[in-house]
Amino acid sequence: MSLLLAIESSCDEMAMAILKDDREFLSSVVASQIDIHALYGGVVPEIASRKHVECVSIVLKETLAKANVKMEDIDAVCVTKGPGLVGSLHVGLQVAKTLALMYHKPLIGVHHIAGHIYANLYEDDIIYPALCLVVSGGHSELVLMERPFSFKVIGETLDDAVGEAYDKVGRVLNLPYPGGPVIDKMAFAGHPTYHLPKPLDDDSYNFSFSGLKSAVINLAHNCKQRNEEINKEDLAASFQKVVVDCLVEKTVKAVKNFGVHQVMVAGGVSANKGLREKMNEAIGQLHDVKLTMPPMKCCTDNAMMIALAGKVMYDHHKFCDLSLGIKPSLDLELESIEVNE
Ligand code: KG4
Ligand code: ZN
Repeated sequence: MSLLLAIESSCDEMAMAILKDDREFLSSVVASQIDIHALYGGVVPEIASRKHVECVSIVLKETLAKANVKMEDIDAVCVTKGPGLVGSLHVGLQVAKTLALMYHKPLIGVHHIAGHIYANLYEDDIIYPALCLVVSGGHSELVLMERPFSFKVIGETLDDAVGEAYDKVGRVLNLPYPGGPVIDKMAFAGHPTYHLPKPLDDDSYNFSFSGLKSAVINLAHNCKQRNEEINKEDLAASFQKVVVDCLVEKTVKAVKNFGVHQVMVAGGVSANKGLREKMNEAIGQLHDVKLTMPPMKCCTDNAMMIALAGKVMYDHHKFCDLSLGIKPSLDLELESIEVNE
């Protein structure tokens, strides 16, 4: 039996969870700051870290109480070490190190994106080789996993991340922050009537969303100058269609070329209904390829995902000492470890 405490604080959420053995969560708490950052139209790093300091003890107390366990019962402390916002990461890491030191617990430093990918383990095992489409506010990449906990980035965004493009388009359309979930909802109420350019339609597995984002912004500005009413739902539907088509097309191409047995989607944008539907449809047409997407509560930042990735590291004794520092930018491929299947 193992009990892991996981801490995630890389951006504007302070989250903690307790994982029993492989898949049983005794508790999961997320203290979101969305309402505060919404006032500024985006995450303000200095405010995020200050709010983390204010709420971290309460989140820890609640996580332990909900699980009905004491720190003494915990076998290891897993924490996001990067990538993310410097100040935000520091709060989570200092708490993890303090707990590890006080209670003599092993410490495990987890890569945030490895966490997003391993959120797919929430319901079922992963079959390798697998491919993961990582789409979040800071990342957009296709990751090939030939073996468990081995990461090869075969394609990535050349400019904006998908979530970032959603949020910037949301701002131009005067939608509440974060724009992603709002645009997703509006897209289902509209029709893709606006013509927008297809981003980076090439042979690579890379993405590019800044041109598309600029095209939406220009279209909105031109309409305003001409005093034309813009149909926001139709624009949302048009933007979402181009984004989703591009993500799914490149994923399907990689599935065929690398002969993977499983496709996963990860990161905040994996909550996107349009993407989930289209991915289901496209992968459903392929033979013998399993598709998994994390449950909604595991898509955006949470600590369950850090616990799931941390558990693989725990099983392989990948512990850190108290000199562990935060890494605001951190190469995913270098986090690969040798894992016995
Ligand atoms: O993974 P995440 O919680 O934080 C990062 O690691 O970046 O992702 C947050 C991003 C935001 O940009 C948010 O707008 C986007 O995920 N997002 C969505 C949806 N839900 C969250 N984007 C599109 N459709 C959604 N339903
Ligand atoms: Zn994230």
